[in-house]
Amino acid sequence: MVTLYLLSCSADSTSPSKKAFETPNYEGQRIVQNNCVACHSPGGDADNRAAPPLFAVKKHYLMDDQDREEFIAQITAFLLNPSKETAKMPGAVKKFGVMPPLGYTEAQLKDVAEYLFDTDMEEPDWFQEHFEEEHGAQTNTLSNPHEAGLEYAMNTKSILGKNLMKALNKGGAAYAVDFCTTRAIPLTDSMSTAQEVKIRRVSDRPRNPMNSADSSQVAYMDKIRTAMTAGEPMEPWVIEQNDVLISHHPIMTNDMCMQCHGEPDEQIAPEVMQKLAGYYPDDEAKGYQPNELRGLWVVEMKK
Ligand code: HEC
Ligand code: HEC
Repeated sequence: MVTLYLLSCSADSTSPSKKAFETPNYEGQRIVQNNCVACHSPGGDADNRAAPPLFAVKKHYLMDDQDREEFIAQITAFLLNPSKETAKMPGAVKKFGVMPPLGYTEAQLKDVAEYLFDTDMEEPDWFQEHFEEEHGAQTNTLSNPHEAGLEYAMNTKSILGKNLMKALNKGGAAYAVDFCTTRAIPLTDSMSTAQEVKIRRVSDRPRNPMNSADSSQVAYMDKIRTAMTAGEPMEPWVIEQNDVLISHHPIMTNDMCMQCHGEPDEQIAPEVMQKLAGYYPDDEAKGYQPNELRGLWVVEMKK
């Protein structure tokens, strides 16, 4: 989440629109980076994206000459209850379908809207530059391992998320459990090969014991939770080991995760519970709420 910290620094020093607002809204920044960019990625090719990039969405909302308060009110209203009727981007609705509801509270969505308004998302040192440069992350690994690692993690997340969504649409949660079980690890592996880095997911409450966080990873997760509660930025954590750099990035839950990681029998359907019990007798990854820290991306990059 340090990214958050890095991003905010650059935004503070260069963007004129930033001057009035000394600190970015960290809660909003965290939500945008971890939950919005996966679909609204700033780069990537047009055929492969799940939604318009956020800077385009922002531009569209600003076309109506809105002031800050109005902008925040309208974005918050849409996100609370996304629908065809309230959407201002009919072209995007036609192309991608209406955005799914994400289960955030109104206060959290206001934080998101504030962050979007106050941050210049077209600035090169926002996400964009690195997503668009074909070899951005590689050239960048040494000078900024944290940001390079985040980019790898977000690329993987977006592929994993797209495949998970496909499986959910095709056969519901019980079917998708089979997908996660048989495909999640091979998928992260193939992403790693494609990107010439090793990417893993770990958790302090693992479903699959192969994904258990070690004690230093658990300690970092605790640190992230403390910073989140305090509304403070999080320190990046990059380890240097012989010829590799290892960066760590939070994995957050959203509404969609609840059907497999939420309350047993309330949010996780009985047939899904049954499947999970069969595959994972020691499953600890239940009982989460949306917007909770679920785990870490661990990204190992060659120096
Ligand atoms: C699962 C994918 C997905 C995620 C995650 C997601 N969006 Fe979207 N979003 C879409 C799609 C698809 C559209 C285009 C269709 C539409 O306009 O509803 C969209 C459209 C929008 C719009 C424009 C709506 C309009 O038409 O007026 C806004 C604003 C927006 N998203 C903000 C966000 C924010 C902020 C987040 C993070 C809190 C987020 N989105 C997370 C898929 C997503
Ligand atoms: C269809 C059910 C399903 C959904 C939806 C789902 N997961 Fe999972 N998740 C699983 C299964 C099954 C595993 C174990 C996969 C494995 O064996 O590696 C898992 C594993 C994980 C892990 C690896 C650590 C561990 O506990 O083994 C993380 C992190 C994770 N999920 C996060 C999420 C997040 C965040 C979301 C929502 C964006 C989500 N999951 C949605 C079923 C699901």
